[in-house]
Amino acid sequence: MAQPNSQSQSTAAGGDFQFDLVVIGSGPGGYTGAIRAAQLGLKTAVIEKDKSLGGTCLNVGCIPSKALLDSSEHFLQALHELSEHGVKLAKVELDLPTMLGRKDKIVKSLTDGIAYLFKKNQITSFQGTGSLVSATEVEVKSATGETKRLKAKNIMLATGSVPIELPFAKFDGKKIISSTEALTLPQVPKHLIVIGGGVIGLELGSVWMRLGAKVTVIEATAKLCGSMDGQMTKQLQKVLTKQGMEFMLETKVQGLEVLKDQVKVKIESAKTPSELMGDICLVAVGRKAFSDGVGLEKVGVTKDERGRVKVNAHLQTNIANIYAIGDLISGPMLAHKAEEEGVAVAETITGHAGHVNYDTVPGVVYTWPELASVGKTEEELKASGIAYKVGSFPFSANGRAKALGSTEGSVKVLADAKSDRILGVHILGPRASDMIAEAVVAMEFGGSSEDLARSFHAHPTLSEVMREAALAVDKRARQM
Ligand code: NAI
Repeated sequence: MAQPNSQSQSTAAGGDFQFDLVVIGSGPGGYTGAIRAAQLGLKTAVIEKDKSLGGTCLNVGCIPSKALLDSSEHFLQALHELSEHGVKLAKVELDLPTMLGRKDKIVKSLTDGIAYLFKKNQITSFQGTGSLVSATEVEVKSATGETKRLKAKNIMLATGSVPIELPFAKFDGKKIISSTEALTLPQVPKHLIVIGGGVIGLELGSVWMRLGAKVTVIEATAKLCGSMDGQMTKQLQKVLTKQGMEFMLETKVQGLEVLKDQVKVKIESAKTPSELMGDICLVAVGRKAFSDGVGLEKVGVTKDERGRVKVNAHLQTNIANIYAIGDLISGPMLAHKAEEEGVAVAETITGHAGHVNYDTVPGVVYTWPELASVGKTEEELKASGIAYKVGSFPFSANGRAKALGSTEGSVKVLADAKSDRILGVHILGPRASDMIAEAVVAMEFGGSSEDLARSFHAHPTLSEVMREAALAVDKRARQM
């Protein structure tokens, strides 16, 4: 029999396996939705196939990558920047096992934290693969093949996504790797070739570049970071190039060969085929919805042409009591989007007004400087014929950024030409990930650039750049 997950220490009391809500998948969407459901009085269970709770984000995604980004940034500062502050270090050395160990400890403390939250909220967690048997029954199959059936009034599918594999470059975990292995490389590669100039490529490329690797990013399209604002991604490319990252845009990878100690990447750029040698190739060309073994076909849950589960505005699948959220459905593959959807499902089931405002989902690329964005880009506004005003302000004119020694980048505020309502905010700069929250809240309240411009911003802070950019919308910036 599949056992309740020992980590949660919750038990299915008295062998009672009937639940108001069964969640399949314990990533940010699944576990946050489960907690909200329990808060609202639903008897809730979560099924997780991995040993540790938390899904991709906590185990092999957002959290470990941020731990390594912070550690590698410290290493870089110790090597090159502290001396500028008058801090002299005799010898700076990389202790990679300690750096990786620190990351693992952070992951463990957070995944253990979810087990604690489950216990606190009386959520039962089962370790095993969850699959639909009927619209109201879910089977849990443990790693040893034992099974248990759970009865569920409602089911939330939150099984996330997996990295996309290139047909000619199957992951071998050593020479051809995904983001998962890029978090645990036992030594710094001499030359890391990254296929895909998206979020993962730039973040994990940054980690290994800071630790000493030569990093070449091959991107099929003409720009980095997909649909993010073109002006800002160009600025980011410039800064990363200055840091040493090499880019090959509009370049197609045609093949990949693993040699004894190296990888040979066959490329076609401007129609000229050539080859690039490296010692490891990170393939980061996107992720795809994961629902293998979940039994969607068995109960007739429908998917779209990209394998994502189809849902309506209430996140219901074509079977009314089965919901789906997060990377498994359409929309940005972001932990915070999944969280909001998980909460919305719990609230909908309990008769509340579950709602997700997809117009204000922020996106962040955790390079240094960071790139953060919410709302429309200039490209999108132009394409939809919306008249807009632009206000930008550089970090180079901000006192706090100068004190920090991080003056690259700028804030750009886009506001409706007539109403002044904020339509989008794009930040390249230090701690842009934290600064974007102000823009998200302003947009959630339907705020104008005038609202941002007239709000106090403590001095001296990085957030003053946001205010100056908002002032610049009406050409009133004061610090430049
Ligand atoms: P991505 O969609 O961000 O970027 C993939 C890039 O690969 C695109 O620019 C695409 O044009 C390029 N590409 C595709 N096929 C190619 C080929 N054959 N040759 C060269 N380039 C090719 O995907 P990524 O970076 O793998 O991330 C996956 C998902 O994980 C994303 O949806 C992202 O939102 C999420 N994620 C979010 C993070 C964050 O919020 N900071 C961090 C890491 C991942």
